[in-house]
Amino acid sequence: MVKNMGLNWRLWSLHKHNHLLVKAAVSILLMGLAFRLLFVHSTVPETPFVEKPVIPNPPVSEDVPEIRDPIPEEVVAEKCDLFTGDWIPNPSGPVYTNESCQLIETHQNCMKNGRPDSAYLYWRWSPRDCELPQFDAYRFLELMRNKAWALIGDSITRNHVQSLLCILSKVEQPDHVYHDKGYKSRRWVFPSYNFTISVLWSPFLVQAAIFEDMNGVSTSEAELHLDQLDKKWVDQYQNLNYMIISTGKWFLKDTIYYENGTVVGCHSCSNKNLTKLGFKFAYQKALSFVFNFIVTSKHKGMILFRTATPDHFESGEWFSGGVCPKTAPVKEGEIEFKDLHGILRNIELEEFAKAEKKAQENGVNLKLLDVSKISLLRPDGHPGPYRFFHPFANDKNATVQNDCLHWCLPGPIDSWNDVIMEMVVNG
Ligand SMILES: *[C@@H]1O[C@H](CO)[C@@H](O)[C@H](O)[C@H]1NC(C)=O
Ligand SMILES: *[C@@H]1O[C@H](CO)[C@@H](O)[C@H](O)[C@H]1NC(C)=O
Ligand SMILES: *[C@@H]1O[C@H](CO)[C@@H](O)[C@H](O)[C@H]1NC(C)=O
Ligand SMILES: *[C@@H]1O[C@H](CO)[C@@H](O)[C@H](O)[C@H]1NC(C)=O
Ligand SMILES: *[C@@H]1O[C@H](CO)[C@@H](O)[C@H](O)[C@H]1NC(C)=O
Repeated sequence: MVKNMGLNWRLWSLHKHNHLLVKAAVSILLMGLAFRLLFVHSTVPETPFVEKPVIPNPPVSEDVPEIRDPIPEEVVAEKCDLFTGDWIPNPSGPVYTNESCQLIETHQNCMKNGRPDSAYLYWRWSPRDCELPQFDAYRFLELMRNKAWALIGDSITRNHVQSLLCILSKVEQPDHVYHDKGYKSRRWVFPSYNFTISVLWSPFLVQAAIFEDMNGVSTSEAELHLDQLDKKWVDQYQNLNYMIISTGKWFLKDTIYYENGTVVGCHSCSNKNLTKLGFKFAYQKALSFVFNFIVTSKHKGMILFRTATPDHFESGEWFSGGVCPKTAPVKEGEIEFKDLHGILRNIELEEFAKAEKKAQENGVNLKLLDVSKISLLRPDGHPGPYRFFHPFANDKNATVQNDCLHWCLPGPIDSWNDVIMEMVVNG
């Protein structure tokens, strides 16, 4: 059998709980596929990309107004918790569509893939104590003239960069100026503004050797150096004016940990005679190391640490038939973080709190972009089966691998940009 992969501690716990062996075996077979789904998302776009594609101005669909009524800035309270609030109806809907934006990856293009309901498009995030103006793409681009941004992290970060680019592309189409071999790290420039946005693939933020093929099937545990930063982002760090940094779920994979170049232990490596240190240990250590670098870096720009986002698999997990059939947001208190996410989240908040103090002392502008709770309330925002093109076209009872981790575009994470704009403008 294929030796996979990331989350087989879950399988192990299936055994432990005496689930049917058959179920476990099926799960293992599914994992290769599922892994690709959740963590690899192979990124080579289906249309070949030239370095500077000439994209015609897309048609704007008539039923989608350009912008919502702006909310006067004075309404925004001085100190407002942007991360506690509710999703409220937004009759005008998203500012872009699958027609107006060419940059949506197929697995997140729920409209194109035939998702039948559309109510999930008509909500916006509203903090409880203040009005949050809608992202203003014109104003944003003006503010960002000659500036460079990078969004750094895993596939959720790639999901996010598409959202931001789609919103901005209503004003100007960006030129695609760089991609790495696997289209995981990419860069775009908005030519009239000399504004650069990069997405940098660095799922662990620390240096990692990952042994996975294009299908997400791994031949060996990841090797993680908990005391070395990933050059992918660190090499560009001082040239960036704004950064959104995040990590999370990759720490749950089978991993061997190194410090000082020496193996110190591992997580989920039952066949190795190594100290079982666990992902908590590694997450804490890695985040602490990343934050320490940031707060002592004398960086003059703005750095947002984005918290990890929850999945919404129900009736199973990602490898065992989990689905996310909800079609509307839920209210605070009606849903809790899953245990595993809670663990990641607590470490993030603890390490951030320590770092924030030092950042202030050192004059580094480090802010928490705490989208976890905002996202938790949107179980309706995932592709589910519609990560595939018309999955039920031939068989309405087809069994389809669901994606309840990434987000439909347009979709809930568009609202992250409202929050970010507020932090950038008033931060
Ligand atoms: C956009 O989505 C609609 C369904 O909402 C579909 O009919 C159309 O073909 C899609 N267009 C593109 C360019 O993906
Ligand atoms: C464009 O922006 C970069 C910084 O992102 C700056 O170094 C460069 O000088 C700018 N170019 C022009 C023509 O202003
Ligand atoms: C790594 O090296 C430093 C100093 O060289 C030492 O203080 C530290 O204990 C070492 N850590 C491990 C895990 O060996
Ligand atoms: C596992 O490691 C321990 C301590 O380092 C050692 O005593 C033991 O012989 C090792 N077992 C195997 C199977 O290598
Ligand atoms: C789908 O399932 C329903 C009942 O669950 C059944 O009546 C129907 O025949 C099935 N359709 C196909 C195409 O298999």
